Amino acid sequence: MNIETRVLQGDFDEVRTRRVVDAHSGLEGACLPILHALQEAFGYVDKRAIPIVADALNISKAEVHGVISFYHDFRGRPAGRHVLKLCRAEACQAMGVDALVDRLANLHGCNAGETSADGALTLDNVYCLGNCALSPAALIDGEPVGRLNETRLDAIVARCRGAVQ
Ligand code: FES
Repeated sequence: MNIETRVLQGDFDEVRTRRVVDAHSGLEGACLPILHALQEAFGYVDKRAIPIVADALNISKAEVHGVISFYHDFRGRPAGRHVLKLCRAEACQAMGVDALVDRLANLHGCNAGETSADGALTLDNVYCLGNCALSPAALIDGEPVGRLNETRLDAIVARCRGAVQ
């Protein structure tokens, strides 16, 4: 059973969550390290972990939720098999990233902040990857890609879906 299936079925590994939380709760400013460790362990931060983190750090659930909301890297559910982080900042906008975002949604069924229905691709917005000279720029599974256009984007999506290109 993959992570997505377990989440949909409501599985939550409280024992393992508590183990991760306990391993980091003694650190200075432990909230962020704990959340990163949870995401590393499970691929996302389950909302049922929030009260456990809050209790361990003696802070409110709202504070933990606030940290999760502030940092866009934290996920509330597992990512797809591949993650495309597409830059939406100014240089990439000027070079047409919005049309690529529309293409991803309309042609490939992949909306920003979501995972495609087949679980192949999660699309995240990011704001400047420091690769403005090669805009529109993105990261696919952490690897930088630049000068994206419709052809290159379609090829990336096809690869993510297992099609040979
Ligand atoms: S604005 Fe997109 S990489 Fe800098």
